[in-house]
Amino acid sequence: MSAQDLSNLSATSLSATSDSVSLFEMGPRDGLQNEAAVPTQAKVALIEALANAGVKRIEAGSFVSPKWVPQMADSGEVLRQIRRQAGVVYSALTPNVKGLELALDAKASEVAIFGAASQSFSQRNINCSIEESIERFIPLMDMAKAANIPVRGYVSCVLGCPYEGEIAASEVARVSEILYKMGCYEISLGDTIGVGTPLKARKMLQAVMERVPVEKLALHFHDTYGQALANITACLDLGVRSFDASVAGLGGCPYAKGASGNLASEDLVYMLHGLGLKTGIDLEKLALAGFGISKQLNRLNGSKVANAILQGAKA
Ligand code: HMG
Ligand code: MG
Repeated sequence: MSAQDLSNLSATSLSATSDSVSLFEMGPRDGLQNEAAVPTQAKVALIEALANAGVKRIEAGSFVSPKWVPQMADSGEVLRQIRRQAGVVYSALTPNVKGLELALDAKASEVAIFGAASQSFSQRNINCSIEESIERFIPLMDMAKAANIPVRGYVSCVLGCPYEGEIAASEVARVSEILYKMGCYEISLGDTIGVGTPLKARKMLQAVMERVPVEKLALHFHDTYGQALANITACLDLGVRSFDASVAGLGGCPYAKGASGNLASEDLVYMLHGLGLKTGIDLEKLALAGFGISKQLNRLNGSKVANAILQGAKA
């Protein structure tokens, strides 16, 4: 994408596709999976505050091995305790059938399987190769279908791997297509370690779009190098309208050392609204949700927009 293309990125060029954008909030899962000793009640309060801000899709937890990620061991309790709002999806990660059984038990509205475009990351994250993970997902998909529960799919390391470095876009496209053909209703493309840059992100998305329709794709960019907003901007005119983000920029991945949180939801919403796109989210209430959890964690809020709102800076 040239500088001229970027400057042409206006409501007119975006109007070729929908002007509504869907934000999938990652804070309670991707955000808190790296944080020790967050009380269950604080997770519940965060999820309820996000729904009150108008967020319609929330990843509420993760049914993984408590030995691998003890931080998520209370996900069942979290899902049982939240006061649910109509029209809000409360999702959970499930790496295998056991995870799905627990998620169904806790009445998750939908679940997500997670694979990778890097063999080394797959091995470290879920203790199996890419091919073994696909085999493991087959009975999970069958069980989810029988239970009538939608399954989302993640592909990690789409713009680089902490163990292998460069990852070919063709491999990202291959794994994405497999998950899509298995029945995932949407494939979320994860820059797990936040190393991508705009042109690379765009090329990767174009490669995946040759195999999976863009309406079925989402972008999940960690913001380690501060490129996530620029990457999304560079991909918007390709038609992608689903983005993962984490309130207050919380998070990281326990199996990707040094990776920071997802792009802050507040920063994404502010930019999307500025581009004339609709999210249905109340930015001030979203910022309040972020300040609530930041205070609980005794952390500075990682969202520039939330901090600007706090200072009363005028847009
Ligand atoms: P394993 O050790 O190969 O599994 O782990 P296993 O089947 O041999 O089971 C070992 C033990 O775990 C057994 O217990 C099982 O019952 C138990 P034991 O007999 O020893 O007492 N177990 C479970 N317990 C609860 N829930 C389950 C479950 N499964 C097995 N679902 C496994 C394989 C996949 C379970 C493990 O590697 C694991 O839990 N990995 C999760 C890692 C993780 O959560 N990573 C972070 C999320 S992914 C991410 O952040 C990336 C993303 O954001 C996108 C991006 O940014 O790129 C999505
Ligand atoms: Mg992630």
